[in-house]
Amino acid sequence: MNAATNIRFHVAPGGALTGRIRVAGDKSISHRAIMLGALAEGITEISGFLEGEDSLATLTAFRAMGVTIEGPYDGSVRVHGVGLHGLRAPSEPLYVGNSGTSMRLLAGLLAGQAFDSVLTGDASLSQRPMRRVTEPLAEMGAHIETTAGGTAPLTIHGGQRLQAIRYALPMASAQVKSCVLLAGLYAQGRTCVTEPAPTRDHTERMLRGLGYPVEVHGATACVPGGGQLYAAPIDVPADISSAAFFLVGASIAPGSDLVLEHVGMNPTRTGVIDILRAMGADIEVLNEGEVGGELVADLRVRAARLRGIDIPPELVPLAIDEFPALFVAAACATGRTVLTGAEELRVKESDRIQVMADGLQVLGIDARPTPDGMIIEGGTPGNTLGPGRIDSRGDHRIAMSFAMAALCAGGPIDIDDCANVNTSFPHFVALARATGLDIRQG
Ligand code: S3P
Repeated sequence: MNAATNIRFHVAPGGALTGRIRVAGDKSISHRAIMLGALAEGITEISGFLEGEDSLATLTAFRAMGVTIEGPYDGSVRVHGVGLHGLRAPSEPLYVGNSGTSMRLLAGLLAGQAFDSVLTGDASLSQRPMRRVTEPLAEMGAHIETTAGGTAPLTIHGGQRLQAIRYALPMASAQVKSCVLLAGLYAQGRTCVTEPAPTRDHTERMLRGLGYPVEVHGATACVPGGGQLYAAPIDVPADISSAAFFLVGASIAPGSDLVLEHVGMNPTRTGVIDILRAMGADIEVLNEGEVGGELVADLRVRAARLRGIDIPPELVPLAIDEFPALFVAAACATGRTVLTGAEELRVKESDRIQVMADGLQVLGIDARPTPDGMIIEGGTPGNTLGPGRIDSRGDHRIAMSFAMAALCAGGPIDIDDCANVNTSFPHFVALARATGLDIRQG
């Protein structure tokens, strides 16, 4: 990143969050809507699409493989599906920026194509582990090259005959599960993936929604090769991972009363609500419904006195992207919060254990990183943190979490390297200001 792309957040302390907002569209579902819409027969109309850099990277990759995609216009996208065998060879490497979901899911799809392709990413993505996808794909007969360290660029040699496998995931990862299932669409036989703990199941739900026979028994999901996908409208709910910053912000800021509309409530994603409620948060679930196989609801959150807890390890995969925000909640809670079983946080867009601990320490919080989690001694509610200057290390969720931390700080918080907020939540600053956070971008 160069100086011109560095964006800094300046956040004044205090305030309360009030009103009604709809946060950005779900990132995981937006990626899958483009991918599966492109591989379907017919035109898939998507609404609520996340116009963030990550999901746009997926959209651009499919355009580069010959798929006509109209939009996005205010969250609406029309994907002219080419069928499972209709993609064309891209003329250049497919650059997917910061997006791990694009790279890992595309690796599975591309392994089954007749043509060669190369996947590249930015500096952060180029350090993230890719053997977790190339190993099972190699078992299926794919031919993929990585760097010596098992990282991108991924060079994928097409024209291989893939064989179905039964794969036991070594870690709880929806990206790896989805990668293997997507390769399974092109394999001979029935591909099955068993996960060690439940992870987000948007791929399975959307495949089904587009008419593909997916079978799920307990922890195992299976797909036969050689089926077809049929276009259907996809309504993308608001992203619970983006809502999480506001759930935490409104919980820690006295006087807050905020409604978050049409939030995705897939049970594999709602760990943040369970954890915050266990800490004493006041979150009401209203207007529950279902759109295209995904649960949605409005969430009303009011300020509450939070207390530290031992986070149940079984909730970790169900809240995996929400820990930066939850660490802020823990810093503003009374007493100790202990997280274990979350070593996956070390291989996200940044090492979220180390980067969050560093930032909280700058703000005067006793936050001790452990190999698989963190121990945080909370301060006094109302005026616990800061002031200070934080380095988000280019990680969108770290930047937004520390912005919310100002609500329980005694002085301003400045956050460096925030440009990547655009990967998942392009209107974050405007929405946060509209609800009452005193944030400026410079
Ligand atoms: C995602 C899965 C998770 C999550 C990521 C999105 C997905 O990653 O952290 O933001 O859309 O499948 P892992 O599969 O690495 O846990």
